[in-house]
Amino acid sequence: MTLELASRSPLPEFDGSDRGGPEQPLLIVENFKKHFPIHSGVLNRAVAAVKAVDDVSFNVRKGETLGVVGESGCGKSTLARLLMHLLPHDEGRLVLDGDEVGERHGASLQDLRRSIQMVFQDSASSLNPRLPILESVAFGPRVRGASKTEARALAGDLLERVGLKAERFGGRYPHELSGGQKQRVNIARALALRPRLLILDEAVSALDKSVEAQVLNLLAELKEQFNLTYIFISHDLHVVRFISDRVLVMYLGQIVEIGPADDIYDNPQHPYTMALLECRLSMDPDARVDNAPLAGDPPNPINPPSGCRFHTRCPYVEDICMAKAPPLENVLASKAEGHLAACHMTHPGSGHSRASAAAPAALARAATPILTIPEA
Ligand SMILES: Nc1ncnc2c1ncn2[C@@H]1O[C@H](COP(=O)(O)OP(=O)(O)OP(=O)(O)O)[C@@H](O)[C@H]1O
Ligand code: SF4
Ligand SMILES: [Mg+2]
Repeated sequence: MTLELASRSPLPEFDGSDRGGPEQPLLIVENFKKHFPIHSGVLNRAVAAVKAVDDVSFNVRKGETLGVVGESGCGKSTLARLLMHLLPHDEGRLVLDGDEVGERHGASLQDLRRSIQMVFQDSASSLNPRLPILESVAFGPRVRGASKTEARALAGDLLERVGLKAERFGGRYPHELSGGQKQRVNIARALALRPRLLILDEAVSALDKSVEAQVLNLLAELKEQFNLTYIFISHDLHVVRFISDRVLVMYLGQIVEIGPADDIYDNPQHPYTMALLECRLSMDPDARVDNAPLAGDPPNPINPPSGCRFHTRCPYVEDICMAKAPPLENVLASKAEGHLAACHMTHPGSGHSRASAAAPAALARAATPILTIPEA
């Protein structure tokens, strides 16, 4: 079954083959920054900037699903758009399977866009209302040079693979489909361009739970079939755990924790991750929460707090937290490899009084009300 489509496909071949072997990350993101300027005055001068993504570095491994979580406005979608180059980054480097994007001898933007596709939350507005869905799916391959017949054959094949009979659904317009069906069409449309990496930005959030489960299972099957890598952005921490191999936690434009999914969920190290996990809805009706685990809104991204950006909401804040930004470093208390957190408590010798004490996960379990905004 693996890559069956590739052998059947009439599309011109794109060399998406693995160049550096399984150990070479599919993407390396280094020091990515995106600040949106805010203009004001008669001269429309830039007077400030929203620090939407601020010095973010991480890898995406081949074949993995990397979940991305964080509160609304923390920069998840901006990061996704930067990876696809739908937005240009202000600073940073992007390396695609060993080749730096935009460098003279590296990968071109065209290579990048061939390798990465995105599925957005709003399934309806992502589709052209005037095109039958078969044509919508065939559109990308047509633009890439496939003949009409070839592109339609591919589109029909992909619709079948996402569970929509081409004969029955191919001629329908988006308004004649349910939300789940539309999202399947969006997935087929993204796959028609043969990406290696699919970014799913809240792609299942608008679906009801039973349809969501179907689409998640479909994504898992397609990942195997097409040898895909996913970046899965979601607010739903249960779904992220279900689908992800690793999880990246963002707060106010920065990564605060990243690591294997089981380790992040069972042994979180950053107080923000702990609070997010505490916010998950419990299936146990007796599990009542008196104090909100995470109180207040995130601070203004135009003027983020000094030092650790989480210090205005963290119950463990000390002077060092306000003075110095904690680096994103390996967590020694974690047995899992590649578990990094940006918190002074997890770095021995940082100057935080709890740095060499018990692991913060244990502290969190011991503490009752969790996070509140300290009085100004
Ligand atoms: N084009 C833009 N111009 C100015 N500010 C922007 C622009 N796009 C996003 N922002 C700001 O950048 C920050 C990050 O936005 P982004 O959409 O990436 O957040 P998000 O984590 O995806 O949130 P959500 O979970 O609500 O989708 C927000 O403060 C947002 O207001
Ligand atoms: S660095 Fe300080 S303020 Fe930031 S999360 Fe850790 S303990 Fe809290
Ligand atoms: Mg978003």
